[in-house]
Amino acid sequence: MKILIEYYSRTGNNAALAERIAEGLRSMGAAEGGSAHGVTLFSLAERVPRKMGGLVADMVFGRKPALQALPDNVGDYDLVVFMGPLWMFHIAAPLRTAIKAARGRMKRYCWVSVSGGALGPNPGIAKELVKRAGKGLALCLDLNIAQYCEVPAGPSTGDTGEYRLAEHPGDLERLAGIAASAVGKLRP
Ligand SMILES: Cc1cc2nc3c(=O)[nH]c(=O)nc-3n(C[C@H](O)[C@H](O)[C@H](O)COP(=O)(O)O)c2cc1C
Repeated sequence: MKILIEYYSRTGNNAALAERIAEGLRSMGAAEGGSAHGVTLFSLAERVPRKMGGLVADMVFGRKPALQALPDNVGDYDLVVFMGPLWMFHIAAPLRTAIKAARGRMKRYCWVSVSGGALGPNPGIAKELVKRAGKGLALCLDLNIAQYCEVPAGPSTGDTGEYRLAEHPGDLERLAGIAASAVGKLRP
């Protein structure tokens, strides 16, 4: 399967997971005796450096911040995996820009996130994605730090906000295993 992973990450968690999932998917196809999954990683970078005040304003006003570059061939892939944080119970603003650009051109797409989860689940994400992409999604995985990672029980937003997945190799392996296995099972 030809897979494009488009990810945005402000503090590194989704970047770390995206890179590890790509490795997992590449080796998985070959290990299953089939042809290896061809995985392309595309990092979504904003034109203007992000500040916390701007983050809240972008979310409240529904803005779609400009990105430095976008992949122009999303329709060539069997599957597009969007990855990024959740902000204020919605997909992070830069992903809005990327999904709008890909709308109407993707064969299939799915969502994977390392979110915080300290304020509970994010129940509206799948619905938001369907609305933004204009079509149903193949998978929606919200791997939140509060439930899946080594943080104190009942963590605060401070605990999850300070958490860096790359500093917890056990968590990184576990989350990447869950995500790569779920994504790898999707068929074109
Ligand atoms: C302003 C702000 C709002 C956030 N809102 C949510 C939220 O609604 N739900 C959630 O699960 N996590 C929320 N988070 C936590 C991030 O999704 C989490 O820290 C994520 O792992 C960051 O990913 P990154 O390191 O790839 O940027 C929020 C973080 C910030 C900074």
